[in-house]
Amino acid sequence: MQRFEIVGGNRLKGTIEIDGAKNSALPIMAATILLEGETVLKNVPDLADVRQMQALLARLGVKTHRDENGAMHIRVEDEMNTHAEYELVSKMRASVCVMGPLLAKRRKAQVSMPGGCAIGSRPIDMHVAGLQAFGADFELVNGDVLLRAKKLRGSEIFLGGPFGSSVTATANVMMAGVLAGGRTVIAAAACEPEIVDLADFLNACGARITGQGTPQITIDGVETLKGTEHRVVPDRIEAGTYMIAAAITNGDLELQGARLEHMQAFVDRLRRIGVIVERYEKGVTVSSARRLEAIEVTTQPYPGFPTDLQAQLTALLCLADGNSIVTEKIFPDRFLHIGELARMGAHVRKEGPTVIIEGVKRLVGAQVMASDLRASAALVLAGLVAKGTTCVHRAYHIDRGYQRIEEKLAGVGASIRRLQE
Ligand code: EPU
Repeated sequence: MQRFEIVGGNRLKGTIEIDGAKNSALPIMAATILLEGETVLKNVPDLADVRQMQALLARLGVKTHRDENGAMHIRVEDEMNTHAEYELVSKMRASVCVMGPLLAKRRKAQVSMPGGCAIGSRPIDMHVAGLQAFGADFELVNGDVLLRAKKLRGSEIFLGGPFGSSVTATANVMMAGVLAGGRTVIAAAACEPEIVDLADFLNACGARITGQGTPQITIDGVETLKGTEHRVVPDRIEAGTYMIAAAITNGDLELQGARLEHMQAFVDRLRRIGVIVERYEKGVTVSSARRLEAIEVTTQPYPGFPTDLQAQLTALLCLADGNSIVTEKIFPDRFLHIGELARMGAHVRKEGPTVIIEGVKRLVGAQVMASDLRASAALVLAGLVAKGTTCVHRAYHIDRGYQRIEEKLAGVGASIRRLQE
């Protein structure tokens, strides 16, 4: 196992290039199950989760390889297998994204239930109900969801749940709808930029989807879809994480490729606490030269404040002037980082789905344990400013979603090294 060792205190200054979005690349890769011919995906980040999806696709007869420029070439070679097994799905929840494409193209999808994870219980009832609405039969077999249909019929499908819509359930239903007979209308669809990217990709393959980016998506089924070339949108969560790196170190960063229009709720909060965020021709600049204000934040589905930046913002607020309140409305248990931040001197108290953060003057380096992807990013951010040395153990969590994080941060002045445990 590997760890990151960070010596805090350096102001970050320079340019970081933002990679393609993990949460766009994964469903788009799964969508290639639907296609005839070759697809070329550009800007697919080289991440552990992407390699995991490649392994799952290989098992399902879909060949992927990177060319010398890093573009990913994908082609379906064998349509026999329809089973995404526990061994692969349990390692990465986004594996559930093969369910819609398998059912639509191969008429059968057997996908292991992903179960819980470090950020809480994560059911898939909306995925299953959404796909059943096309007329598929559903059974639970040895912990696997088994869906079968001779033909899918377009339908009206509601995807609102107790915590808003579901991103990957919207992706699954959209991917099934593109090859279903007739019209499918998704009500309470997720509006995330990654859903828009998936819809744009499918449309470039010949699908007829409208309304992506709004809560009502309409899909008119087609007979076949052909592979295409597509560039994955920049990762707004990676960009947001580096924006906080600039803010927490009182630094000054240019984030090349970052799209401000995908981060409005987040940018609004940053500006309110005193961070300077501007658009420039290649992306976004972020700087801060003073102590920041405390604030209240509630995570919400897009375009609200993203849950995937909650842990990182919490790390920043540990150093704000006064008391901040952060409420998690998507994954109420996604607070594993606060115990570790407390080891670094943060004053954070949890009450239900809310944490109350009493800003302190400084954090101090400590041995801390990464627990999930975004919580780990929050610990790295805290380490950048903490006095002394911070060791973030279990670096593999970070590698699931951040490509070369230590190189990118070191390139703008951070003292960070990857070490073998
Ligand atoms: N939910 C249900 N039933 C379902 C599906 C979801 O009740 O069948 C609930 C969830 O428990 C949660 C809410 O609905 O309370 C929203 O979850 P959603 O389904 O939207 O999450 P997801 O699609 O599984 C994606 C991202 C996550 C991100 C969430 C929320 C991908 C591959 N994953 O997950 O990304 O946190 O949306 O924005 O797109 C990450 O990158 O670190 C990450 C966890």
